[in-house]
Amino acid sequence: MSNDGVNTTRRRLLVGASTAVGAVGAVGAAVPFVASWSPSDKAKAAGAPVKADISKLEPGAQMIVEWRGKPVWIVRRTAEALANLPGLDASVADPDSAKSKQPDYVPGNSARALRDEYMVMIGICTHLGCSPTYRPEVAPADLGADWKGGFYCPCHGSTFDLSGRVYKAKPAPTNLEIPPHYYMSDDVILIGEDGGNA
Ligand code: FES
Repeated sequence: MSNDGVNTTRRRLLVGASTAVGAVGAVGAAVPFVASWSPSDKAKAAGAPVKADISKLEPGAQMIVEWRGKPVWIVRRTAEALANLPGLDASVADPDSAKSKQPDYVPGNSARALRDEYMVMIGICTHLGCSPTYRPEVAPADLGADWKGGFYCPCHGSTFDLSGRVYKAKPAPTNLEIPPHYYMSDDVILIGEDGGNA
């Protein structure tokens, strides 16, 4: 008697389990195949690394990718823009990024980059979190004759050079933050991982 009872219960459990597996399989099949190739929005928000394809980024242009809900800017700097940076050391508040946030393996010099041509940084002002505007022009009327290109924060007027270094006497206390990143290939940067550089 007791054996029959056990077997009946067990049979019911097995039937229930296979029904559940069938249901999961059906849901899985309904999800578009491509979804398995990229991190979901939820995974990205939780901190999954994000790839940036820089193959089409023209000299002087900026692209933006989202990582952990934040904008990450990649700016391809021209040779002229790079040549201007050391000359700005005396005008910026933290020229060697000694007080600013960036991975140890990113040089603390005027270029602040793994490859000088490409500047990677988080596009959030270190004052109160507004997103500065990319202003690559040289000497525009509103930013003055000394302006060599950079970023302007519309909230309280902080200005940054093309390495994200904040100019002196501005509300932002430190340079724009650089996220962990590395080059997976010449054309692809992975944002959010150090690639063994740390
Ligand atoms: S938030 Fe950028 S200057 Fe205040």
